[in-house]
Amino acid sequence: MPLLIKDEYPEKLFRKDGKRLDGRDVHELRPIKMEVGVIGNADGSAYLEWGKNKIFAAVYGPREVHPHHLAKPDKGILRVFYRMATFSVFDRKRPAPGRREKEISMIVTDCIEPVLFLELYPGTSFEVFIEVMDADGGTRCASTTVAALALADAGIPMRSLLSAVAVGKIDGKKIVDLSGIEDKAGEADLPIAITWYNEEVSLLQFDGDMDLNEMNEFLDLAKGALKKIHQIQLNALKSKYVKLQEEMLNEKKEEDKKGDK
Ligand code: CDP
Repeated sequence: MPLLIKDEYPEKLFRKDGKRLDGRDVHELRPIKMEVGVIGNADGSAYLEWGKNKIFAAVYGPREVHPHHLAKPDKGILRVFYRMATFSVFDRKRPAPGRREKEISMIVTDCIEPVLFLELYPGTSFEVFIEVMDADGGTRCASTTVAALALADAGIPMRSLLSAVAVGKIDGKKIVDLSGIEDKAGEADLPIAITWYNEEVSLLQFDGDMDLNEMNEFLDLAKGALKKIHQIQLNALKSKYVKLQEEMLNEKKEEDKKGDK
């Protein structure tokens, strides 16, 4: 159950058996499912379930820029709109985009830009709409991951995919993929994204104290988890084409049967 009042946070974030409150080990990701091609009107789209998070991403572009004054003559622009549904959190979220949504839209934009060839699309825009339907911690990372998948589904040339995950510290232990309660009651939360073509960090946020050694440990921890997430993204893309291939083969079989009659 999401707990929003500080006094109601559990005292301990580990159970007696050493597992986290949701039964995970320190380095274990929540269950993740991804699917592409889920929004008919979009040029590309994806849906992701990551623990209790449920998020859609829809991509449109390259297309004309509205408002026109945002257009750049020498390159395309990327615009990301991260929104949380009013019913996505325990406390009703105000429908108007708040400061947090604007900040997350901005960081997701900055983080995705390096993988796109915006210089090839002067005067146009790529728009990514992210809708969080159910939120339980780590939505900026989940949104970055699903947005990358939707861009790939749209067939937009990309240097590579990118993936994101949060690592952090709870009850003094370093953990991977913080849930909502761990995010709120824990000591540290570090969302990290990586662009796979150069394996560089494209998003890193942190608030708190840490020395360089600790930072390197966090980065190593994140890298292991990010590789697993990347594989799930690739599988989601592949399974779309396997399905299409099966459909085409079935259609061909039907046509051949008709031809034989
Ligand atoms: O989602 P993320 O961890 O990237 O961002 P956050 O600002 O650290 O928010 C952590 C979690 O707090 C979200 O994932 C939601 O589950 C929750 N939240 C909420 O309950 N009400 C809000 N208005 C915003 C976030």
